[in-house]
Amino acid sequence: MSSPLSSPLAFEGGRRAPNRWWLAPLTNQQSLADGSLGDAELAWLERRAAGGFGVVETCAAHVLPEGQTWPGQLGIFSDALLPGLSRLASAIARHGGLGIVQLFHGGVRAPRRLTGEQPRSASAFTEEAPEFETPRAMTEPEIEHVIEGFVQAAVRAERAGFAGVELHAAHGYLLGQFLSRSMNVRQDAWGRDAAGRARLLLEVVRGVRRRVSPAFVLGARLSPEDAGAARGLDLDESLQVASWLADEGLQVLHLSLWDVARCTRKRPAEHPTPLFRAALPSNVRLVVAGSVWSRETAERQLELGADAVALGRAAIVHPDWPRRAEDPAWQPRRPPLTATELAERAVSPVFAKYLERWEGFVAPSP
Ligand SMILES: Cc1cc2nc3c(=O)[nH]c(=O)nc-3n(C[C@H](O)[C@H](O)[C@H](O)COP(=O)(O)O)c2cc1C
Repeated sequence: MSSPLSSPLAFEGGRRAPNRWWLAPLTNQQSLADGSLGDAELAWLERRAAGGFGVVETCAAHVLPEGQTWPGQLGIFSDALLPGLSRLASAIARHGGLGIVQLFHGGVRAPRRLTGEQPRSASAFTEEAPEFETPRAMTEPEIEHVIEGFVQAAVRAERAGFAGVELHAAHGYLLGQFLSRSMNVRQDAWGRDAAGRARLLLEVVRGVRRRVSPAFVLGARLSPEDAGAARGLDLDESLQVASWLADEGLQVLHLSLWDVARCTRKRPAEHPTPLFRAALPSNVRLVVAGSVWSRETAERQLELGADAVALGRAAIVHPDWPRRAEDPAWQPRRPPLTATELAERAVSPVFAKYLERWEGFVAPSP
């Protein structure tokens, strides 16, 4: 029996994905030191496009040089990067999936050793992890520069041939730092209350919407509540932000849940998916991600109100998950994977090394 995940997904503006399996954004460090596309990053993503993912989302790509967080991160901060970006967009489109670039600025998590500058954020605050330097609070012109950076990056993504972009406002990076009650203690119009803290994200959405075509898909990723580096978030405020984003013409809201089986922290009897579905008009697509390892788990999310389901780790293990999942009897394999098995899945040694941060994912070498 075919899965509802195999049915096409239409976006406001006219774009259509062939199915509802979405490759989650995965940082892989396989690009070049100057931010241009590396062959290994291209091979990694093209393999998932060939494997049938309806939407293929890139890693977090920095929109300004000073927003870079990882070495080998794919950049989208300059027209000089267009040849590689265009190559990537065509490779994804060739296989029928929609290519989406995740637009990113690290804020406090953009280290001086990569950018040559003291990190900037909403406010000056101290991260718990010792590797992070205290950031400087951005001035208003610096905030305007960030908005323009995101907008230009979206325009560049469209010129390169991508179907859309997603603004990375999850996981405590710059857009998420502005949303946070603890990281944004500004008393001006970019802080102070929920509307002030959401202003940067909303201005970016407005700016992008004005400068791209109506068919270009614009999404945002949110952490609905505190999780890991995402702190100072409140569920009800996140629901309000989702609704404001929809008012500004957002077509996709992507929830990073880490574990889709869990209910919310604030209201332990309530699951986030129906809450966000109810907060959004029906033409805004809802995508969820977090520990999906079976077709049944994904289908349950559609029943709860999601329109698409994103896979991260499962897509590393199974580049052709969408095709394999057509068979209801298929039992996906789980990690750990050896370096050789990762290489067979178009994961180069540099990405394999990064994956060691995820406990139990990479098998220790013999
Ligand atoms: C290696 C790795 C890199 C990731 N990089 C990103 C990223 O660049 N942007 C992002 O929003 N989330 C990133 N995430 C989070 C994933 O997109 C996803 O939400 C998370 O892994 C949970 O889904 P999963 O259980 O299917 O892996 C990353 C996760 C992993 C494992």
